[in-house]
Amino acid sequence: MKRAVSFVQKSSEWVRKPKHIDANLKDYFKTYKTFRWKSVEKEFDWSRTKKVNIVHEMIDRHAASTRKNKVALFYWDPSPSAGYPQGRDEKYTFLDLKNESSRFGNVLKKMGVRKGDRVAVFLPRTPELYISILGIHRVGAIPVPLFEAFMETAIEDRLSNSEAKAIITASQLLERIPFSKLPCLKEVCLVGGDGEVMPSLPTSVRLISYTEEMQKASRELEPVWLNLNDGLVIHYTSGSTGRSKGVLHRQYAMLGHYQTAKWALDLRDDDVYWCTADPGWVTGTSYGIYGPWTLGISSVVLGGRFSAQQWYQTIEKYRVTVWYSAPTAFRMLMSKGEALPKSCDLKSLRHICSVGEPLNPEALRWVWKVTGIPPHETWWMTETGMQIVCNYRSLDFKVGATGRPFPGTYATVVNDKGEEVPPNTLGNLVVKAGWPSMMKEIWGNKGKYNEYFRLKGWYLSGDTCYKDKEGFIWFAGRADDVIKTAGERVGPFEVESALVQHPAVAEAGVIGKPDELRGQLIKAFISLRSGFSPSEDLKKEIAEFVKKNMAAHAAPREIEFCERVPKTRSGKIMRRVLRAWDQGLPVGDISTMEE
Ligand code: WTA
Repeated sequence: MKRAVSFVQKSSEWVRKPKHIDANLKDYFKTYKTFRWKSVEKEFDWSRTKKVNIVHEMIDRHAASTRKNKVALFYWDPSPSAGYPQGRDEKYTFLDLKNESSRFGNVLKKMGVRKGDRVAVFLPRTPELYISILGIHRVGAIPVPLFEAFMETAIEDRLSNSEAKAIITASQLLERIPFSKLPCLKEVCLVGGDGEVMPSLPTSVRLISYTEEMQKASRELEPVWLNLNDGLVIHYTSGSTGRSKGVLHRQYAMLGHYQTAKWALDLRDDDVYWCTADPGWVTGTSYGIYGPWTLGISSVVLGGRFSAQQWYQTIEKYRVTVWYSAPTAFRMLMSKGEALPKSCDLKSLRHICSVGEPLNPEALRWVWKVTGIPPHETWWMTETGMQIVCNYRSLDFKVGATGRPFPGTYATVVNDKGEEVPPNTLGNLVVKAGWPSMMKEIWGNKGKYNEYFRLKGWYLSGDTCYKDKEGFIWFAGRADDVIKTAGERVGPFEVESALVQHPAVAEAGVIGKPDELRGQLIKAFISLRSGFSPSEDLKKEIAEFVKKNMAAHAAPREIEFCERVPKTRSGKIMRRVLRAWDQGLPVGDISTMEE
């Protein structure tokens, strides 16, 4: 471990569960001993037909069953948007999604998209985003979902690395795509902007209209059949060094999505499930698409920006039963007070889960108080593809504990040599390699992939934790410099690279600073080029510059000017010194610092 994390949470408060709770996973301990992933394979049609494609397991098989007219997607966005002055309130059954994704598959075929091609999806959270992803699966291609908030540099990095050939996007986002720097990108499908003059793009790029093409397309299209090892999805995520990396998952990952959605999210046929995450983040695909739909569950998607009132109204309107969200969202709701949740009927809820960052006991207790349900932690990563360490609906847990390993996985704590350490000892959180939805590759970067497995037999998460005597894993922090701000993973290098492009910035060093609402906020230490002097206006301008180039969430919320950014003799930024500066603490050994 590079950095020893000293805060070790201790809590003796338990969340006790009734003796005979009616959960899908009834006896965790017994199941943990006997469960085999092989037994889940029979839940999928491919185990009999040998024909693999996740879109069949998520959509087509339900559309051919009694679930045909069951609502798969409830979509609500009460705010007006282009073409929808009254907002949107729509429903799609499994059959509708089969038809729409077949149509879109035919559009993709016309665009020349083939098996294994990467297709970027850069759209606001709308039904078209979900239909696009399903259509991409249908033709055997690999979706690369991108957050709507991404700006030019973020888009350029991800599209050039994945060599995406096509992009599905919206007219208001088009100007952020740097076509001239993306020679592989040849096809654009534009959602919305109907009736507007189509913008002019470089002649090498073909532009088509989603609405027009969908009207013409046939709703018949058999999925392209794949192998279990073929690509499923690429999610870009950040590490402590270098640009964002493309985490590729394989079709077989569906086993993990399915079983965790069944046992950790506890989804049942009659549930109305709401995952608040955007598919630009792995939670929004693994648990916003793959998990619930392989199980044939009705899912709710709320479009638009965060609004506490709309969130509670969503639960009330759809009688949401299972809710999956994140600590920052819970804290944002908490900051709006209790009157709002009291004015809505939240009694439909029966299970709540949380992911992305540690759920602080205060937020846990608050959600418990206003909904009557204690939120259950789930720990996992883009790379793990599925939940690994969780608290379960049928099992007592300790407030603040991250949980226990999911059946069929083994997560534990090891030292830097890969040896398991005694209880209550801080170490590396690792998972025994080889669970179904373990990432398949880091796109185009074998070296980075291998780094995760440098402790033989283990997947090294980069998180630090300890395990108590009862077997609960307690998250402690990151072992590296990766920042988690409002649940989003941000690499300091990416922010620094964006900062030094500003004409006033000579050097920049970026850290995550503890923050009550966001978990961490991004703080930048900046030394200025000669001719520029520090000012509040300059801070604003620099932050704005990162917002415009990368994404709002990656912009520093705090900037401090300094004479020089501390670096080692080999030129590495000493973030440990920056953290000490920030906290007003002694800087420790700086013998490797450059003169
Ligand atoms: C953090 C994909 C504490 C952790 C879901 C991990 C958590 C990183 C938890 C992955 C949790 C996730 N408690 N920390 N329950 N869940 N994390 O890939 O540091 O964006 O390594 O998340 O989030 O981030 P990612």
